[in-house]
Amino acid sequence: MSPAAAVLTAGALLSTPILIPPAGLAPIALRTARSAAITAARRPETIHPGERWLDNRGEHIQAHGGGIIRIGDTYYWFGEDRSQAFDNQHRGIACYSSTDLADWTFRGDVFTMSVDERPADLPGTGLVVERPKVFYNQKTRQFVMYMHLDSGNYAAAEVGVAVSDTVDGTYRFLKHFRPLGQQSRDIGQFIDDDGTAYLIFEDRPHGFHIARLSDDYLSVAEDVCLVPMAMEGGALVHYDGLYYAIGSHLTGWNPNPNLYATATSLAGPWSEFKDIAPPETNTYGSQSTLLLKVVGTKTTSVIFMGDMWRPRTQWDSRYLWMPLEIGHGNLRLPQPRAWSIDVETGETSIDMSAPAMEIPFPPSSVRQAARGF
Ligand code: GAL
Repeated sequence: MSPAAAVLTAGALLSTPILIPPAGLAPIALRTARSAAITAARRPETIHPGERWLDNRGEHIQAHGGGIIRIGDTYYWFGEDRSQAFDNQHRGIACYSSTDLADWTFRGDVFTMSVDERPADLPGTGLVVERPKVFYNQKTRQFVMYMHLDSGNYAAAEVGVAVSDTVDGTYRFLKHFRPLGQQSRDIGQFIDDDGTAYLIFEDRPHGFHIARLSDDYLSVAEDVCLVPMAMEGGALVHYDGLYYAIGSHLTGWNPNPNLYATATSLAGPWSEFKDIAPPETNTYGSQSTLLLKVVGTKTTSVIFMGDMWRPRTQWDSRYLWMPLEIGHGNLRLPQPRAWSIDVETGETSIDMSAPAMEIPFPPSSVRQAARGF
């Protein structure tokens, strides 16, 4: 190793690089070495779709069907904790934090409920708590969590609302209801550029709703649009003057070809729905849960967050996150492989030398019919 390389390597490993100038190295070269070392220390982190994604404790991240909010420079990822500690009598929602979207720190199970603790007036028996989404309300300074709350046979079809004064505190269960009086199973969250908060919910007889939350976020105030499509795993992003909505067909834990449509206004009209990936890959074995927009100093990226469910070993379900090719009314999920993001600049880069992710289930050639109402 050359002396200059040795300096660089040492500098890259230290948070405050100590640079010992090798004999004869000019001050200008030293400055170059120093900034290279700092850049190396802040290099974009790599995300590996489909692999086990470990947290700061070395444990597989449990944030399935998740949602993300950013507070200051920190991203908080909430999702279903399906670790084996939670049997079918207990449900948990975990929270993780990260400043780079790749390294996640477990902050705790911020909400738990057991079958014994389920609201007495929730119809049916058994308990389902899925797809948590947390919103921060500036006016009340409260963190408001929505969750899909259901009976074991998914017949109650309600949302539950829980609140906390801190992002990773214990969320206190407040109430449960059917939003706008309609059935609600999978939910999604959307915060528009002007800060308005929306809940997306799947209403089996009618389609999927984009609904505005009340001022305090504790109730669902108004239907902005009912898209008459049988779709779940709903997510939205506002990008370059257009709204993009995505969702999956209704095939339970099994993956299917996810679709997208665009509109200039949330109220629609929405374009025809199209595939986000080659349909025979069934969205590369995943199902949508959120579209995460990262606005950086150089560019804006949109990340597709999907779940790769393993119904019989739920705790080992994986994540498929990939930066989308998006713009001018088109959206495409590229073939998954290792990639990185610099959250400061917003730039992403797919490692084309890395092998493409293997699709875990045999791709199906059977196309799910897009069912409208
Ligand atoms: C899926 C849904 C999941 C879960 C599952 C249960 O359609 O997206 O969140 O509810 O069904 O079978």
